[in-house]
Amino acid sequence: MKYYTLITGASTGIGKALAADFAASGDNLVLVARSGQKLEELAGELRRSCGVDVRVCSQDLGQQEGPASVFGFCSAEGLAVDRLVNCAGFSVAGSFAGMPEEELLQMAMVNMVAVAALTRLFLPSMIGRRRGVVVNIASLAAFQGVPGMAYYSATKAFVLRLTEAIFEELRGSGVRICAVCPGFIDNDQFYNRAGHDRRRIHGPISSLEVVVAAVRRAVSGRSIQVLPTLLDRMMVFSQRFLPRTPIIKIAGFFAGAKEKI
Ligand SMILES: NC(=O)c1ccc[n+]([C@@H]2O[C@H](COP(=O)([O-])OP(=O)(O)OC[C@H]3O[C@@H](n4cnc5c(N)ncnc54)[C@H](OP(=O)(O)O)[C@@H]3O)[C@@H](O)[C@H]2O)c1
Repeated sequence: MKYYTLITGASTGIGKALAADFAASGDNLVLVARSGQKLEELAGELRRSCGVDVRVCSQDLGQQEGPASVFGFCSAEGLAVDRLVNCAGFSVAGSFAGMPEEELLQMAMVNMVAVAALTRLFLPSMIGRRRGVVVNIASLAAFQGVPGMAYYSATKAFVLRLTEAIFEELRGSGVRICAVCPGFIDNDQFYNRAGHDRRRIHGPISSLEVVVAAVRRAVSGRSIQVLPTLLDRMMVFSQRFLPRTPIIKIAGFFAGAKEKI
C-alpha cells in the first residue's frame, strides 16, 4: 500500500521545511494550506527533486467545514495517510482586551478546532491499520500564559493537553501522537502575520532546521512531547521550582509582545 504524510500549513515556514524534509526521506505528501499557488509550486519542486507523489489540497482550516473537506479529499483520492502533521497555526500579538473578535475566532478555529478535528478524522483508519503517527505543532507558549500572546498561548496549551490525553488513549494501538513545542523560530512570515516586532524578542531564536529535527524525533521516538533545544528543556524543567508569577513575567519579557498600558 502507498502511504502519505499529510502536512497542514505547508505553504510557508515550518510546514514548508517539513514537507521538504519528509519528501527527501521518500515520503509521499498531501500539502494543505489556503495558498494553492504556493502549494502547487512546492509540490512541483518536490516531485522533481525527490521523485515522490505530492498532492495539493487547498483548504481554509479557519472554516468549520475545512477539516472534513481535507479528509474528504484524501478519501476521494484513495490516499492512505499514515502521518498527520498539524502545523497550520498563527499568533496575534498585543493585549487581550484589544484583540479583534474575528482574530480570536480564526485563531480558535485554526490552532485548536482544526487540529482536533483532523486528528479525530484520521485516527480511526490509522488505528484500523495499527500504523500511524500524529504530530501536533504546539509551542513553548503552551507551558504558561504569555502576556501579549494570551490567546495564542492558551490555544497551544489546548494542543498540548489534547495530545497528552490522546497519547495515553492510543497506548497499545500501534499508533502514536506527539506534541512538538518550539520556542521562537526564525520565520518572518509568522511574526508579520502576528504583528509581532521580532526585534523586541529577548529569547533566542532558533532556525527552521531545529524544528525539522524535533519533528523527526517525534516521528521516530516514543515521547509524548518534544522540546527542540536544550534551553527549551531547561526552561520547562525550571518551572517545577518556581512560582507561577515569575514564570509568566519571564515568558512575557522573552516574547516582548506585551503593549504598555
Ligand atoms: N514561528 C515560530 O516562532 C513558532 C514557534 C512555536 C510554534 N510555532 C507554530 O508552528 C506552526 C507553523 O508556524 P510557522 O512559523 O511556520 O508560521 P507561518 O510561516 O506563518 O505558517 C503558517 C502556516 O499555516 C497556514 N495557515 C494559516 N491559517 C490557515 C488557515 N485558515 N487555513 C489553512 N492553513 C492556514 C499558512 O498557510 P496559508 O496562509 O497559505 O493558509 C501557513 O502555511 C504554527 O502552528 C505556529 O503556531 C511557530
